[in-house]
Amino acid sequence: MKFEFYNPTHLIFGAGTLSQLGEIAQKHGKKVLIVTGGGSVKRSGVFDRAVASLKSAGVAVAECTDIEPNPRITSVARGADIARKEGCDVVIAIGGGSTMDASKMIAAATLYDGDPWNLIGHGQDNWVIPTRALPIITVPTLAATGSEMNKGAVISNDESKVKSFVQANCLFPKVALVDPELTLTVPKDQTAYGVCDIITHVTEGYFSGIDGTPIQDRFAEGVIISAIEWGQKAVADGSDIEARTQVQWASVVALNGWVQAGTNYAPPVHMIEHALSAHHNITHGAGLAVLNPAYMRFVAKARPDRFAQFARRIFGLSGVDKDDLTLAMAGIDKFEDFLRSIGCPTRLSEFGIDDALFSQYAEDAVLVVHDENGHLPGRPPLSKADIVTVLKSAL
Ligand code: NZQ
Ligand code: ZN
Repeated sequence: MKFEFYNPTHLIFGAGTLSQLGEIAQKHGKKVLIVTGGGSVKRSGVFDRAVASLKSAGVAVAECTDIEPNPRITSVARGADIARKEGCDVVIAIGGGSTMDASKMIAAATLYDGDPWNLIGHGQDNWVIPTRALPIITVPTLAATGSEMNKGAVISNDESKVKSFVQANCLFPKVALVDPELTLTVPKDQTAYGVCDIITHVTEGYFSGIDGTPIQDRFAEGVIISAIEWGQKAVADGSDIEARTQVQWASVVALNGWVQAGTNYAPPVHMIEHALSAHHNITHGAGLAVLNPAYMRFVAKARPDRFAQFARRIFGLSGVDKDDLTLAMAGIDKFEDFLRSIGCPTRLSEFGIDDALFSQYAEDAVLVVHDENGHLPGRPPLSKADIVTVLKSAL
């Protein structure tokens, strides 16, 4: 293992911490752009509480509403225009991953004099990785993406049907204000998809990272086991604040870089899912629920021992009288059963998606992230034909 770890985001975690927003924001600027989604934060009263806290700290407020799920570059451009026109010097995201990702890019695009799509990797010759952004404060209302405490943003282009990402140090939020009470209103389906997203962030590194990372393995297993245990409770009873708290913490931990540190992490399932949600506008975590078991069954044949470990350590399955591959497949079945039990889809047909665009999804999946052979990195790397095979098995 040889690696660097860097995450400068100041994390403030706990039920009730929303009331600190004004006090935090006034350390970073005088006028904030609050970015929100389709209205959930207004209906829940979170928006009004946030504004009250800001106003009592003497911070002025402008607004960018209506960030859509799978946020579009056009919304980023719209938000940056508002920030410039209003003279905002801080961006506050209050919402799910879509709102947080759009906010990060609004913060960068406000200081970038060009087409904001240049900032997102989509196979262009000159990818302009942002080096400057307004200070960002994230206030997640949904436990899923981990965007609250990382430097990534995933943005879609509705015209070209490309959904892709950028990672840059200037996109690390200055502060992540993570108040699990804000997730109490998340409906059952989104709660379940979020749990799947959290688990998949960790399984990506677990199955496609390098060997010889025993401590990271145990971190990853801890996140998976906890997300399963507390995720079930949060889905069963959305008002269970203890469950919401544990799931919210799992979301932060699963993708703030700590669990993946030193693993040489690759995210193949995410790359395939982004292609799906670009074309069909499905919820990211739901797409992962369909793809991850299919992907696991495909690659388990190459690394049955790793997947047998997953079966033993996550689900307590016994390998006595079983070869590794049989045990591996039993573990993946259990994982898929879990996803189904919390209400996730596990087949593409549940979205009405057929095989018509499979080759296109495979092309899109390797558009930005690929090795010297044009394969999707992972263990083993996947050719486009392999990706199509995985997709077929998910029909
Ligand atoms: O838009 P509103 O009205 O707020 O409603 C949202 C939306 O309809 C609703 N919601 C959020 N908080 C709620 C709530 N409803 C009731 N009560 C609340 N407290 O949930 C719906 C989904 O929201 P969205 O933000 O789209 O979901 P999620 O957090 O799963 O974010 C998904 C996006 O993040 C990207 C995904 O690709 C996708 O575009 N990702 C970002 C990552 C990152 N930056 O690190 C990594 C992830 O792997 C992922 O790719
Ligand atoms: Zn994800």
